[in-house]
Amino acid sequence: MKILLNQQQLEAGVENLADEIKGIYGHQPLTIIGIMTGSVVLLADLIRKLEMPLRVGVVQTSSYRGTERGPLTINSELMLDITDRDVLLIDDIFDTGHTLKEVIQLMKSLGPASLRSAVLLKKSGRQEVHLVPDFVAFDIPDEFVVGYGLDFNDEYRNLPYLACLETADLETSQYPA
Ligand code: IMP
Ligand code: MG
Repeated sequence: MKILLNQQQLEAGVENLADEIKGIYGHQPLTIIGIMTGSVVLLADLIRKLEMPLRVGVVQTSSYRGTERGPLTINSELMLDITDRDVLLIDDIFDTGHTLKEVIQLMKSLGPASLRSAVLLKKSGRQEVHLVPDFVAFDIPDEFVVGYGLDFNDEYRNLPYLACLETADLETSQYPA
């Protein structure tokens, strides 16, 4: 595994993301919705850097089997009301963009006052939708990455750094596809 972003770099990136978010919302109340499971670590780190009145919810999505995209599923049972609220969606990575596009459509149907999106990573040259996240912490090359919430077959989410998954790692996975 090759480290792409170490702990210090991730920390600095999340700090910058928080500053940009504060610059837009100031002290206005905000509702953050984390797209699970990949955004779990970013969500936990980011919300502790924000100081406005904050509500936090999650929506569960899934699209990958190993390193291959499969059909996207969204569990739309959001446990908090976002009608007339300023909402910020958080995801780990903007890859093809289909996940964020569909979650945005779903959230819009619930009538938020405003809706923006923030991602930790944006993979270069992969986008298939006409949409860009409002906040991006890092642009990265087109490689399959794990750690800091991102997984391969639900493994490696707990790595405190972001690493590129290499062929040798696939062979030693504890949870083969
Ligand atoms: P998209 O719908 O293609 O933009 O994919 C977004 C979702 O796919 C993300 O929320 C991730 O969970 C997952 N994903 C995309 N690229 C990677 C990767 O390199 N490593 C791990 N998960 C990824
Ligand atoms: Mg995800």
